[in-house]
Amino acid sequence: MSNERIVINGGKTLYGSVSVHGAKNAVLPLLAAALLTRDEVVIENCPYITDVENMIGLLRDLGADVERDGRNVSVCGRISRTQASGSLCSTMRSSMFMLGAVLSLTGEVELPMPGGCDIGARPLDIHIDGLKKMGASTEYTQGGIRCSAQKLHGADIVMRYPSVGATENLLMCASLAEGYTSLVNCAREPEIVALAKMLKSMGARISGEGTSVIRVQGVEKLSGTRFRADGDRIVAGTVVAATAACGGDVTLYGVSADDMRSVLQAFRSDVCRIEESGVAIRVRSNGHVRAKSVITAPYPLFPTDMQPQFIACQCFSGGISRVEETVFENRLGHVSQLRKMGADIAVSGDCAIVRGKQNGMIPSVLTASDLRGGAGLCVACLKVDGQSSIYNPHYIDRGYEKIEDLFCSLGADVRRTDK
Ligand code: EPZ
Repeated sequence: MSNERIVINGGKTLYGSVSVHGAKNAVLPLLAAALLTRDEVVIENCPYITDVENMIGLLRDLGADVERDGRNVSVCGRISRTQASGSLCSTMRSSMFMLGAVLSLTGEVELPMPGGCDIGARPLDIHIDGLKKMGASTEYTQGGIRCSAQKLHGADIVMRYPSVGATENLLMCASLAEGYTSLVNCAREPEIVALAKMLKSMGARISGEGTSVIRVQGVEKLSGTRFRADGDRIVAGTVVAATAACGGDVTLYGVSADDMRSVLQAFRSDVCRIEESGVAIRVRSNGHVRAKSVITAPYPLFPTDMQPQFIACQCFSGGISRVEETVFENRLGHVSQLRKMGADIAVSGDCAIVRGKQNGMIPSVLTASDLRGGAGLCVACLKVDGQSSIYNPHYIDRGYEKIEDLFCSLGADVRRTDK
């Protein structure tokens, strides 16, 4: 294990404002969708996080011309290869978006099985089922998957679960397929709406995005566009969690409160006031945490990507909370690390029962094992007086631009070192 770690001297209240960077889970499918045209596509507000840099590498690996100009990334999708490199695909889940994009454009694609956070089995059956209904033939290769199709055709597809990635993949395929496609029981996340908006700006004929039924009339070709990604609602939620735990007065810009309803409701209390204006979300907290319970579920309910940060905050409540993880079957890895700090958390299946402690949590040396679990550990370390360390910060870097700078800008004492 590398010696790199984030060192946090916790116990500070947080004050100031944050302009939230672009949403990882919006930008990644948008970059894949840029391959659906040979014209230039410019995506604005692309964050400097490793998943985006790896995605850019993947597009280049396939032959696309990709240039980053600050937070704007331009893609000219001239795909010359239909096989993506294993090293890049193994770093993240979003290589799966290549299935739809490359298959639509070239009629064939071969990918190693995608990587990403170890939070569950994360199969691709819903993706494959939809691609098959659209006329693709698919086979599992040694450690990967190969798909081919003369020409994808429209289909009526009912998804057994509202998979975000499968909805995005199938939406991309349907945009260029021959005929009409209906996606039923599809995901409703804001990132789906963003992808549909960009595809429509490229000439796709889509309706129903943001609801559980999306209808697509395939078109011959798509054109270039310029599209701006929204701020990251999970990064924003992480700052809300930290402010609720630490206390303070923090204003968030660049993200829509409408995309965070369930998160704001979960943290809002008589001691954590959250006000919304058109362009900002203001969080004021006295650092006391009310015991609350949540169940994670597909949008618009409480997002699984905020579950670790919520549990971390609840460790400091004055009561007992119940957190049930229903989306991923292995997403409580951070609990063992929080227990090292003295947290009283009992786990039964996918359920965590947190007995909050207003005192008694101690600074510790911790290890992150996935992106949002690492963010949750940051929340706990920011709250606890004393010096804590979090090893494996590269997990956190997958979805947060320099998390140490983010919280230092709010008055926290956070630094990164490998000494
Ligand atoms: C996206 O992952 C996000 N990643 C995840 O964020 C997020 O947690 C997840 O959606 C749920 O909101 C990106 O957008 C890059 P799913 P995805 O397909 O598409 C099962 C983060 O921290 N499933 O909605 O992989 C799957 O195993 C990451 O930013 C199948 O069984 O999520 C899981 O249990 C983590 N078969 C559930 O559905 C399939 O074919 C939800 O997965 C597909 C999914």
